Amino acid sequence: MTETLGFCQEMRPESCGFILFGATGDLAGRKIVPALFGLCEKKIAPKNFYIVLAARTPLDRAALESRLRASLTKAGFFPSRESFRAFLERVEYIQADYDSEDFYRNLLKRLGALDALSGVKKKRLFYLATPPAAFEPIAGRLKSCGLLFDPGDRSRWSRIIIEKPYGSSLENAASLDDGLKAAAAEAQVYRIDHFTGKETVQNVMALRSANSVFDATWNNRFIDHVQLTIFEELGLEGRANFFERMGLARDMMSHILQLAAITAMDLPATFSDTDFKAEKKRFFESVRPLDREAAAKQSVRAQYESYRDEPGVAPDSAAETFLAFKFQVDNDRWRGVPFYVRAGKKTGLKSTRIDLVYKKPGRGIFRSIDIGYPNVFSFSIQPEEKVTFSLISKHPGPKLCFVPRTMALDYRAEGQEAAGYPTDYERLLIEAMSGDQTLFLSSFEIRFLWEFLSPLLEAWREAPEANPLHPYPAGSPGPAAAEELIKKDGRAWA
Ligand SMILES: NC(=O)c1ccc[n+]([C@@H]2O[C@H](COP(=O)([O-])OP(=O)(O)OC[C@H]3O[C@@H](n4cnc5c(N)ncnc54)[C@H](OP(=O)(O)O)[C@@H]3O)[C@@H](O)[C@H]2O)c1
Repeated sequence: MTETLGFCQEMRPESCGFILFGATGDLAGRKIVPALFGLCEKKIAPKNFYIVLAARTPLDRAALESRLRASLTKAGFFPSRESFRAFLERVEYIQADYDSEDFYRNLLKRLGALDALSGVKKKRLFYLATPPAAFEPIAGRLKSCGLLFDPGDRSRWSRIIIEKPYGSSLENAASLDDGLKAAAAEAQVYRIDHFTGKETVQNVMALRSANSVFDATWNNRFIDHVQLTIFEELGLEGRANFFERMGLARDMMSHILQLAAITAMDLPATFSDTDFKAEKKRFFESVRPLDREAAAKQSVRAQYESYRDEPGVAPDSAAETFLAFKFQVDNDRWRGVPFYVRAGKKTGLKSTRIDLVYKKPGRGIFRSIDIGYPNVFSFSIQPEEKVTFSLISKHPGPKLCFVPRTMALDYRAEGQEAAGYPTDYERLLIEAMSGDQTLFLSSFEIRFLWEFLSPLLEAWREAPEANPLHPYPAGSPGPAAAEELIKKDGRAWA
């Protein structure tokens, strides 16, 4: 195992109870239950820890256990009888009636009893894995029934976790947020975008902070442009209902903006959540808004050709399954450096990556010969977890010839270290149990997201002739118009 250097900050999750509402749903089954199991299995969960699963569907113990087993198997866990048993001992199911105060009063009593049994001191995490429309009523009742403590009280705590998408428009996102804030303080609300929990995303910050060679060149003197790519090989995966309402831009913009911020924000003075969020906020405040004119010139929306044949999709659907756009950041570090973004479904490959493309050599023998961009710093976030730096090197041999080469750091190759590291959801749950909001989105970020996205959506909706919905073949990296978006600036997609 490689020795770590000096700074080693480890989250210590506090003993607590975890209450999962909407426990019969897709998110709960695919992500949250496996993450809870993973934390127990990897011995990262707090020692004193219990889990209450709640949903409206009646479930007896046998049905609950077989659901849990199925969730874990689907997520790739094949626990031994002992470890599954040990997990089950921490779990109980409560049938929910979210409209009834009795449900919350009984829950309050039950949590008190479980606290006593498990050695937990009134510390509770409520995960709302229900449709967003239920967030406000549930949070309100948690508050009115005494399940949300005063955030200033240091001896006990209660936190609420919710997951994007946060609303479907500026107005309803604001109203959703106001509803939550009426019940819970900002310090009690943990808004997840699971991209921030990814190991490779965090490594972007780590590399910049620790290696001055990178941060010193992380600016408009050296970087020509930045590219962000979020490509999915798959299409709708049975989520037509959701996707028809939302489209790709609403679904993906949070991921896009989080990747942009983590790549381009100034380094915070410390890794405390307060400093981190302040720097991230400063970055977002420097992003130039896309007005209607910019939307027409700098954005491309598209739909894959067989999309309308998918079950549940309207024959005249205008939902975009692909988006490309360019934006600028008006601060001293990035002024003049364009950020190009591509995100789409059915693009032929699954790939999330960040590419920082360095300027071409301005002096020496290559000044007058076009060798493209010799230096690209690339972060592959998923499915590969890799950092590469491309450069030009001398070809071995008697002549002075040059060849492109790549230096690579493969996370998976660091097998021993990587084996026990938490998945994105596991990490986010630990951070919430530790009371650290660094990786979670603030109320400001939700508002910014919608202020940034809304003019784009409005331009697409109200001026379709200037912003046509381009077709692209399923399995291709988007329409020709997306190629043109970057080509007209004399550049190409990485
Ligand atoms: N699925 C994903 O991959 C994913 C990804 C990102 C974000 N999210 C977000 O995570 C949350 C859960 O998503 P999901 O896909 O799991 O949703 P879902 O399957 O549609 O719903 C989750 C559960 O909520 C309960 N429910 C349904 N309608 C309800 C209502 N009106 N009031 C209270 N409970 C209700 C249902 O359980 P009972 O009927 O048994 O109570 C259902 O099993 C949503 O906010 C979603 O936007 C999901």
